[in-house]
Amino acid sequence: MDNKPLFYNEYEQFYKMTECSKAFKSFCQSAFGEDFSQDGFSDINQINRMLDVVPKCVDTHVLDIGCGNGKMLGYLQKKTGAYIHGFDYSQNAINTAKSLFAEKAEFRQGLIGEIDYPEGQFDVVTSMDSMYFAPDMKKFVSQIMRWLKKDGVLFVCYQEGDVMPKTENACTTVFAKSLDALGIPYEVEDITAETYDLLKKKRETAVKYKNDFEAEGNMEWFDLLMIQTDFVTEPYELFAEKMARYVYTVRKR
Ligand SMILES: C[S@@+](CC[C@H](N)C(=O)[O-])C[C@H]1O[C@@H](n2cnc3c(N)ncnc32)[C@H](O)[C@@H]1O
Repeated sequence: MDNKPLFYNEYEQFYKMTECSKAFKSFCQSAFGEDFSQDGFSDINQINRMLDVVPKCVDTHVLDIGCGNGKMLGYLQKKTGAYIHGFDYSQNAINTAKSLFAEKAEFRQGLIGEIDYPEGQFDVVTSMDSMYFAPDMKKFVSQIMRWLKKDGVLFVCYQEGDVMPKTENACTTVFAKSLDALGIPYEVEDITAETYDLLKKKRETAVKYKNDFEAEGNMEWFDLLMIQTDFVTEPYELFAEKMARYVYTVRKR
C-alpha cells in the first residue's frame, strides 16, 4: 500500500503485539470473557447476540469486516459449524488468521470500499467496530447488501464518541442514515449502559495486569487502554452525553 490508510501502521503494530503479549491475552480473557485480540468493545455478550442470527446449517457462510486475526470468527465457527470469511487491511492480522484457521475458512487482506465479493455469497455479514472506516458509508452498505443472500443478516456493533462523533440517537448515526437513504429497514438495540459497565471492567482489568505489561515492555498498550477508558472516570449521565453504542440488525428482503 503506497498511501497508507488511517491507522494502518498502528494496527500492524497492534496485531504484532497481540501475537506475543501474554499480558494482553490475559487482559482480553478477563475483560471480554474470551481472547479475540479485541481492539475495542466486543465482549462475549455482544458476540453471543450474533449467534442468534447465524443459521446452524453446514453450509452457512459468515463474513467479518475488519476481522483482525480471525479469532472471533473462529469462535462463531466452533459454535455453529459455519464457513468463515474475513478481511482486514492488516497483513499481520491476516497472516495470523490464515495460520490459525484453515478448515472452511478464507481470509483476505483488503480495504473497506475496495475489496469485493460475489453477489449473494453470505448468510451473515458482521462488522464489529469497523463500519467507521468506510470512505462512503452509503456505497459500502449497498455493497454489503449485494453480498448477502436473500434473508441474510447484517449485524453491526457501532460506537459513537471516539472515531465517529456522537449524534442524537440510534437513528441519527451515519450508518442509520445510510440505511434510511437506501430505504432499508433495521432493528437497533441501544447498549450504551452495558458498554459503560464494560469499559469500567476494561479499565480495572488493565490496571490488574499493569505489572505484566510493564515486564513485557508493552506499557504503550497499557497507556492506550487507559486513554480508551478515560470516559468512565465520569458518572454514567456524563458518559452517555459523549458516547453511545448500538447493535444494528439488518435483514435482506
Ligand atoms: C476497531 S478495530 C475492530 C477489530 C475487531 N473487529 C474487534 O471487534 O476487535 C477495526 C479493525 O478494522 C481494521 N481496519 C481499519 N480500517 C480498515 C480499512 N480501511 N479497511 C480494512 N480494514 C480496516 C483494523 O485493522 C481492525 O482490525
